[in-house]
This record gives sequence, structure tokens and C-alpha cells, in this order.
Amino acid sequence: METNTMQKPKYLGLLNRISNAETAAGVYLRAWADVTPNADLACTLRLVAARETSHGEVFCRRISELGFELRTNPDPKGYEVLAKLANPNISDLEKIGDRDDRNDNTDPFGEVRRRIAEGEFDPMTANLMTWYIAEEADSGRRLRECYDCVRDMAGQGKKSAAMGPSADAEAIMACMTSGFAKLEKTLEKLVKVSK
Ligand SMILES: [Fe+2]
Repeated sequence: METNTMQKPKYLGLLNRISNAETAAGVYLRAWADVTPNADLACTLRLVAARETSHGEVFCRRISELGFELRTNPDPKGYEVLAKLANPNISDLEKIGDRDDRNDNTDPFGEVRRRIAEGEFDPMTANLMTWYIAEEADSGRRLRECYDCVRDMAGQGKKSAAMGPSADAEAIMACMTSGFAKLEKTLEKLVKVSK
């Protein structure tokens, strides 16, 4: 319910999508951390999960500060993702999937950096976005390093053609490292699928 007279910022939907996606990612990564036998991976997953949960809360709070309320958008595939990541009988390698973006040098946050530079966001939200991007980039780097270690330990230092793609890992990594454009596309696809 929006009882204020403030004009709705055009980026409110983006803040809402980020909050929902980050909160969900926090739950997924924490569930995975709790079942992996790899202590280093667990440590990184917990660190990133704590950040994701925090991002979900902070963006929810920012929406409130702007005079609006978070709209929770249940992810129709959320339980499938969670069931897989929380399953100790599914290997870390399978959870990671065969995504390999080590040679992808594009800036996943280029689009939102441009929007910040163009003054699209109010100053407080711009500040929040800048902090968020920095943490996401660092989380993505930490996760990629860990994923590489898991692949190396499994003798799959290079992308394996034998493995099928992991949609869950794709979805999580889309949130972690691929920035807003991909996040928005992923969410658009999910919305279309759920209709
Ligand atoms: Fe994230």
C-alpha cells in the first residue's frame, strides 16, 4: 500500500527485483554451504550468502525509505533450485554446472554504472548501488575461484563437454556476477514461464 504522495521512482521495480533475487540467493547459497563436504567452498558460500541476505534486507529497507513497500515475488522454480542445492547426494561439481566465464571480460555492471553516472538514481540509492556492485563483483570473483578449485579437484580444470548445463548454477551466477541486464532477462523469462 502506497499512502504517500511521493512520486514513484522509475527504478523502484529494479530495487524490488534485486531485493527478492538477493534474498533468494542468500537462502540457496546457505543451504548449499550446509551440505558441501568442501570446507573452503562452504566458507565462501557462507560469506556470499550473508552478503546476499544483507543485500535483500538493505534494498527492502531502501524501498521503505522511499515510501513504498517490497512486493515479494515467489520464484516458481525456487523450490527446485533449493532442493538440488540442499541435497548432499548431489555433487558440488554438478551444482556448479559447466558455466565457464573465465574469459568473459565484459563488465557485467556496465549498464548500471552508466545509469548511476547519468543520475538516474537519487543520491542515497546511487550510493547503495555503488556499494552493492562492489560487493557483487567481489562475491563473483570469490565464487569463481572456488568453483575453479572444485573443478580442478574433480579433474575438470577445463570445461567438460560431458556435463550438461546446470540451470540452477546459471540462475545463481546470473544474480552474482552477471549484473542487472542478465538478472532482468532471467526474471523476464521466469515471468513468461510462470504465465
Ligand atoms: Fe547477488
